[in-house]
Amino acid sequence: MCGVGGHLAPGRIPARRAEKSPHLERVLGACNPADPSAILAAMKLLVVAALLTAACGSKPSPTTTPKTDDEAAVVLPDINEVPFDKLDQKQKIAFMKQKVVPQMKPLFQNHDAKDFAEFGCKTCHGDDVKDGHFDMPNPKLPKLNFKDHNSKYEKADLEWMGKEVMPTMGKILNLPLHSEENPKGFGCLACHTLEGQ
Ligand code: HEC
Ligand code: HEC
Repeated sequence: MCGVGGHLAPGRIPARRAEKSPHLERVLGACNPADPSAILAAMKLLVVAALLTAACGSKPSPTTTPKTDDEAAVVLPDINEVPFDKLDQKQKIAFMKQKVVPQMKPLFQNHDAKDFAEFGCKTCHGDDVKDGHFDMPNPKLPKLNFKDHNSKYEKADLEWMGKEVMPTMGKILNLPLHSEENPKGFGCLACHTLEGQ
């Protein structure tokens, strides 16, 4: 502020302009520590400048609350950075809509185009989706009994589930798969429940 005033030393300004310019007077006045209103004005300017800098400096965070209710428009964070279970409910729904359904639909429809013609949230989550319930695992899916699978289910169905559905879903969710070494990994029981449960 005062540096500017220095350059505008009265001797270098045509007298008539200096007299007529209230703006210049204010600038020059700001260099006079005795003028309280000028100091106040200068402080206000500083505050405004600080606020502007803060506003420009803040980057939008990837988890910014969505502006609309349309899940298709929700901007999702990278699944490598924010795991699925850390998303809020709206983002979970958007993730299912944007990532899960489009990638899982062909797996189901290629397996049985007729049974899964209407593939969607309901296929995995059941009828409760209409009440906004998406709890997993879903006890309405076929019950599993690992000791008796081969007599109870078609081999082709088990292979489809074990080689396509489970690994693809685990990959979309960015979760390590269930195995003997990793019993807590993503597996059949993320979606199905066991017989008797
Ligand atoms: C292929 C099966 C599949 C489909 C299709 C699917 N989901 Fe999911 N969904 C899952 C699984 C598995 C989980 C559990 C993931 C986890 O917690 O690791 C899940 C979890 C969720 C959750 C979080 C559950 C909670 O705890 O609240 C919501 C919400 C959700 N799904 C909504 C949807 C919506 C909406 C759709 C349709 C647009 C949909 N899902 C389609 C398999 C599916
Ligand atoms: C992402 C969720 C998900 C995972 C993981 C999953 N399933 Fe499924 N499974 C389903 C859905 C959805 C169906 C279709 C239910 C229907 O017919 O409407 C299904 C159907 C089945 C069926 C019945 C097939 C038929 O046509 O009658 C069997 C058996 C089965 N799953 C076994 C398994 C086994 C074993 C695993 C683990 C290797 C597994 N599933 C993993 C969602 C899943």
